[in-house]
Amino acid sequence: MKQPYIIANWKMQLSLNESLSLFGEIDEVLPEKNKANVVICPSYTALAKINEINTRKKIKLGAQNVFWEEIGAYTGEISTKMLEEVDCKYVIIGHSDRRKYFKEDDDVVHHKLKTVLDSSLVPIVCVGEDFQQRQEGKKDYTIISQVTKAFSGIDFKGNEKVIIAYEPVWVIGSGQAINAEDAEYMHEIIKQTIIDLFGVGIFEKIFKIIYGGSINAKIVKTFLVQPNIDGVLVGGASLNADKFLEIIKEANDIY
Ligand code: 13P
Repeated sequence: MKQPYIIANWKMQLSLNESLSLFGEIDEVLPEKNKANVVICPSYTALAKINEINTRKKIKLGAQNVFWEEIGAYTGEISTKMLEEVDCKYVIIGHSDRRKYFKEDDDVVHHKLKTVLDSSLVPIVCVGEDFQQRQEGKKDYTIISQVTKAFSGIDFKGNEKVIIAYEPVWVIGSGQAINAEDAEYMHEIIKQTIIDLFGVGIFEKIFKIIYGGSINAKIVKTFLVQPNIDGVLVGGASLNADKFLEIIKEANDIY
């Protein structure tokens, strides 16, 4: 049975008070028998405070970014250890917002991934083509290249967990997701790239592949029923308790 990941990325959208009350609203209603793995990635300031009120631990916490060095004079950065201290379990790496506004490239993603794999955190590695790359018929090439550059040279022991999030950049925040079959095709490309790099055994033990980009409760099932879609990364629809809970409910109803 699939235990789909439903991961909220709150980006830089909420104040501390808004984050605390949204978390409270979601946590309060989340069913005890919840099959989905629910993860919320708030801002850093909210992360520490939410950890204090997250007594049920039904929701796991994630960060939106991390630095690749473990300690030192790196003004403005945050380390894996600092995230572990606030019981953070997941961390997003290489989100398209980071790639676009902060010039993070595949090399940066690779460095961060290595550091995260040395910690207790589970990396959520984001990949995705932009509109031009898709128009020019380069979507497969782009994804294979991003995945290969991020993961090449990593030495997996077999007990790690890695989530790859496929997020076609041009549909993020657009209100219009790609269709689920199209996403499934891209997930197969990602799966095959990882199998080519590490073999099928490592893929099956370690990797999950989730989809992100304008997910809402109406369409989430069409994605989660695909064999290679293990969950969703949700932006806009995770900023409203009812909408996010509806997505979780849809996911629970499938299995
Ligand atoms: P939207 O769900 O708002 O399209 O955002 C997706 C995303 O970027 C999640 O990381």
